[in-house]
Amino acid sequence: MNIHEYQAKELLDKFGVATPPGKVAATAAEAEGIARSLGNNLVVKAQIHAGGRGKGTFKDGFQGGVHLAKTAGQVKDLAEKMIGNTLVTHQTGADGRLVRKVLVAESVQIEKELYFAVVMDRGCSGPVIIASTRGGMDIEHVAETEPDAILREKVHPALGLQPYQARKLSKLLGFAPTEMREPCRMFHAVYNLFIESDCSLVEINPLVVTKGGGSVCVGCQNQFRRQRAVPSTCDSGHARYGRGGSPRGGGFQVQFELHRAGWRHRLYGQRCRAGHGDDGYYQLLWR
Ligand SMILES: Nc1ncnc2c1ncn2[C@@H]1O[C@H](COP(=O)(O)OP(=O)(O)O)[C@@H](O)[C@H]1O
Ligand SMILES: [Mg+2]
Repeated sequence: MNIHEYQAKELLDKFGVATPPGKVAATAAEAEGIARSLGNNLVVKAQIHAGGRGKGTFKDGFQGGVHLAKTAGQVKDLAEKMIGNTLVTHQTGADGRLVRKVLVAESVQIEKELYFAVVMDRGCSGPVIIASTRGGMDIEHVAETEPDAILREKVHPALGLQPYQARKLSKLLGFAPTEMREPCRMFHAVYNLFIESDCSLVEINPLVVTKGGGSVCVGCQNQFRRQRAVPSTCDSGHARYGRGGSPRGGGFQVQFELHRAGWRHRLYGQRCRAGHGDDGYYQLLWR
């Protein structure tokens, strides 16, 4: 399941990830009203379930699904052109997507555009952070043309993102030791969002470093797992998880919870581990 950028923004706000202030509008008049409450440095963004909007083209020839604006009048104008129009980007296919809403937000002064994502890697059954200094571009293209510009950091599912890993990523993304506090806090917040909202992908592109030196999330895409088979607490046995407890049933989160539970039990000196039982289910095994 995908959500729109404005919905992702609400989620990011909730987890303490900085995003430019803004609101979603379904009509040009509404967009104008929002613009008046925000000031003079604005951006209007078409809300569709696809990326590449900035470089996209509307079916009537209007260029670009992301535009900067200075006045509420300009915002109204842009919203009028976008709402009800169909936007074609390299991710939508030739049919494009109908724009029903636009996000009106404050624009930020961009110094650098970075890429930061947390994704569930099926290969190692755990979260992996992918980061790059080539933000604002199509990451698949970067992966093809400049594979070395992409960093991958595996996160241990039971231990979570460690402070040293966040610092390492900050350093590789070009933050000086004195500027690392804010990006590190942001990386942890995005990671928490990923785990707690049961996402399969949280992609921040671009993660903007502003002229003032702050970091802010300007573009975001979230994908969620289809089913939530997530026990909030977990002690033992597969019975409580039903079929979701089988890794073949796609129960990574269950594995994750079981590892965490096993770890907790071991802390208290109990002998157990998470693994496959005789019946093939993933469960806590007591020794
Ligand atoms: N709030 C903003 N302030 C300034 N520039 C922005 C803002 N939002 C987007 N942009 C610019 O527009 C580009 C495209 O926006 P983005 O959200 O990445 O959409 P898409 O990837 O669908 O084109 C960004 O890379 C950035 O350069
Ligand atoms: Mg983008």
